[in-house]
Amino acid sequence: MKYFVLLSLMLALACSVHKLPVPREQEVVQAAKRFPNVTLAELNKGKLLFEQNCHKCHSYHKPNEHTELEWMNIIPLMCSRAKLDNVSQSYILKYVIAFSKQSDRKP
Ligand code: HEC
Repeated sequence: MKYFVLLSLMLALACSVHKLPVPREQEVVQAAKRFPNVTLAELNKGKLLFEQNCHKCHSYHKPNEHTELEWMNIIPLMCSRAKLDNVSQSYILKYVIAFSKQSDRKP
């Protein structure tokens, strides 16, 4: 019983880290405004890379914290800090832009 409680606690903790939004078809449509041939698979790769690399120095900054233009500046800087290559960088950029804050988006 003791172990069960401990295990549940650990599980809850592990899950709480993964509250990043999951991309769906509507995010593909959103991201396609900037990246015309983007796919759902690419957005999912971006999410995975984000999860693995973007909480080492600070907790996750959610994709909707920044506008598309802000992310265009932040991601290259953070990816160089995280020592990620250009391919990984492009997946992460597509992922965050798919969920970015609306204000500077073209209609
Ligand atoms: C090697 C450490 C490190 C890694 C890895 C890292 N960051 Fe950061 N990040 C920082 C530091 C330090 C700051 C504090 C603000 C600054 O110096 O720009 C920051 C700030 C930020 C901010 C706030 C920027 C602003 O202008 O408000 C965002 C968003 C962000 N990081 C996103 C990311 C993402 C996305 C990743 C994964 C690709 C990532 N970070 C990986 C160190 C890191």
